[in-house]
Amino acid sequence: MIVKRVTNLKYRTDFYDIISHRDVRIALEIGVEFGYNARDILAHIPSIEMLHLVDPFDGSLTKKQWWKDGRILNKCKETIGECADRVSYVQKKSWEAYPDFEDSSLDFIHIDGAHHHHGVIQDILDWWPKVKEGCVFSGHDYYSKSKKRNVLPVVNWIFKDREIFCTNESRRELVNSPTWWVIKEGDLDFDDSVLKNSRILIPEEFYYVEEEYVEIDKF
Ligand SMILES: C[S@@+](CC[C@H](N)C(=O)[O-])C[C@H]1O[C@@H](n2cnc3c(N)ncnc32)[C@H](O)[C@@H]1O
Repeated sequence: MIVKRVTNLKYRTDFYDIISHRDVRIALEIGVEFGYNARDILAHIPSIEMLHLVDPFDGSLTKKQWWKDGRILNKCKETIGECADRVSYVQKKSWEAYPDFEDSSLDFIHIDGAHHHHGVIQDILDWWPKVKEGCVFSGHDYYSKSKKRNVLPVVNWIFKDREIFCTNESRRELVNSPTWWVIKEGDLDFDDSVLKNSRILIPEEFYYVEEEYVEIDKF
């Protein structure tokens, strides 16, 4: 697998900057937590009129007990601050929320919810139809320091015939996790029957990537 590593995009905010000219109006993030990334998206893509924030915000998908008392949503609202009228809170799990959205209704999507194989595959398959043709479909943690995080092989597997890009946050220093993205072009050719098995076996070849270094000013 070849991934195009964009050397001049050091942080995810650099990525939002280069897509900010694309007339992104309706966007969506899956996995919001305290809203830090949502705040970055809103600040760096000023054309966004509505950013839908999909997260149960109730600690049901995390082991962090102290989230279960509602503090997480309050903290997120605090983070979003003055941008409150540009967001909507979709307090659901991603697999419950996707039927609420029309196909081809989103200009940009960012996935940072479940990080296990099954969850990442399901999010990509469920939400791909929701994004308009030619728009950006992205997610966090292409590389990750945690062994439990499995985004890379899933992205490589599902998008094996497409151009995959990622930001240049360092995988070796393990400080930040790169954002990956592809451009929505057509339906996905992927056999979703794999989702019937919660212990999905991804073919070995998709765990390995060759990086092609590129520079991009505008996307
Ligand atoms: C890593 S945090 C998100 C961080 C946030 N994107 C940021 O960078 O500021 C993960 C969040 O994903 C949420 N989450 C996990 N699985 C999810 C799912 N299937 N649907 C919606 N949210 C999910 C959790 O509740 C948690 O708040």
